[in-house]
Amino acid sequence: MVNPRSSSHRLPRSRFLFPSSISGYVLILLAFASIVFLFSHRQIAEVDRSLPSEDSAALQEQLWGSSGYGYRPCVKPTRKYGVPPKSNHYLTVKSNGGLNQMRTGISDMVAVARLMNATLVIPQLDKRSFWQDTSTFSDIFDESHFIKALEGDLHIVRELPKEMELAPRARKHVTSWSGASYYEEMSRLWKDNQVIHVPKSDSRLANNDLPIDIQRLRCRAMYHALRFSNPIESLGKKLVDRLKEHGPYIALHLRYEKDMLAFTGCTLGLNDMESEELRIMRENTNHWKVKDINSTEQRMGGFCPLTPKEVGIFLNAMGYSSSTWIYIAAGEIYGGETYLSNLRSRFPNLVFKETLATREELKDFANHASQTAAIDYIISVESDVFVPSYTGNMARAVEGHRRFLGHRKTINPDRKGLVELFDMIDRGELEEDAKLSSLVTEMHKYRQGAPRKRYGPLPGSKGRDRFRTEESFYENPFPECICLANKH
Ligand SMILES: *[C@@H]1O[C@H](CO)[C@@H](O)[C@H](O)[C@H]1NC(C)=O
Ligand SMILES: *[C@@H]1O[C@H](CO)[C@@H](O)[C@H](O)[C@H]1NC(C)=O
Repeated sequence: MVNPRSSSHRLPRSRFLFPSSISGYVLILLAFASIVFLFSHRQIAEVDRSLPSEDSAALQEQLWGSSGYGYRPCVKPTRKYGVPPKSNHYLTVKSNGGLNQMRTGISDMVAVARLMNATLVIPQLDKRSFWQDTSTFSDIFDESHFIKALEGDLHIVRELPKEMELAPRARKHVTSWSGASYYEEMSRLWKDNQVIHVPKSDSRLANNDLPIDIQRLRCRAMYHALRFSNPIESLGKKLVDRLKEHGPYIALHLRYEKDMLAFTGCTLGLNDMESEELRIMRENTNHWKVKDINSTEQRMGGFCPLTPKEVGIFLNAMGYSSSTWIYIAAGEIYGGETYLSNLRSRFPNLVFKETLATREELKDFANHASQTAAIDYIISVESDVFVPSYTGNMARAVEGHRRFLGHRKTINPDRKGLVELFDMIDRGELEEDAKLSSLVTEMHKYRQGAPRKRYGPLPGSKGRDRFRTEESFYENPFPECICLANKH
């Protein structure tokens, strides 16, 4: 539950001196008053500079602009990369997790099959996970496109050939974050087996230190080959068009869902019954290891998803006007309208897929969490601004995809810093005014998805923890798959 990268942001705390005489007090009071006066004037002057008038081009650029910074996708293989001969070694995979864990896992398995000179069988999707979704690969993805798009990289077949069904096979639980040499070593299993089955696909491949051609293959798989199936793509596009009719829009990944709140133990603003309900859910979910959570400490550490109200204060302070259209990419918001109403009062143009699409349009997807998540994914990647209220597989995948496509603006809230400001507002020490605006804008100057190299492991982390703390390849495929326009 520890989020290693939530940056710390502390407000300066004032110190008080204790003078020994009354005149000393008066002098200090006078001095203090004039400092406050000067300081508040400086603040206002700065605010005037950093927040230009409502519809000026500079403000519009600050809110919505992303220039691409001269970078573009680069996924072509190097000159020495060739099509491998057809292999009669088969790799079968079961992909686990939610939609985005499956997508990254499948892209990794494409790279693994290539590393092992294997023919890849279209992965099976785990149907027992939390998502309880019966969708198959071809329900979610365009299977023919997937096979064709990777023709130059490896051979992919829809099913294990009949004659392989009785062939000797190995089942291999792969160590997480393994490198190329691990998989080359694993190729020894081909001596006695014709089929290798990998029962879990999440995080099986290292983020870093892989050959450039393997890294670019991951990008081709993730961003080109894994296109969603036609019904999903076409509804996604339709909804994007509907949103764009109103101008630029924000996609808000509002992770204010029951499972997330139970997992993180964040109960700020909830009533006792709700807190208890979440605690019981956490208690009963075996694979969530941390049971005893102090909600206050969790929140102060920046480990809680922002509440809908907090998101509203944040977006207001960033300068987005109340007429802004906001698409909420999420499952069911915990507490529903009770907790949404404050956000909605700030931003009345708040829409969900259920309000944007007709019941008829949604009916084929409704009982398939992965397919509705795919629609959210499309609308989020295509948005003018993407704001995740919490980190997670979806937030990371969307952010990475947006970086890949030209560093589209993704604003990552500094939850730890923001919570301090929110608490000051609650205590009456700060108001929702221009000063808050300038503090929040300044805090997020460098959290908007501009080009940078992927972060390495956290300093001080050891052993397998090093891998765990690295930034995910798909969160930021820079520099391997993102290059300056004039380079290759
Ligand atoms: C895969 O095949 C290539 C040549 O086609 C060969 O050089 C390489 O060693 C093979 N790799 C493995 C892991 O068998
Ligand atoms: C939770 O942490 C806060 C801040 O450290 C502390 O004041 C509070 O007493 C703790 N609550 C419980 C129930 O331990």
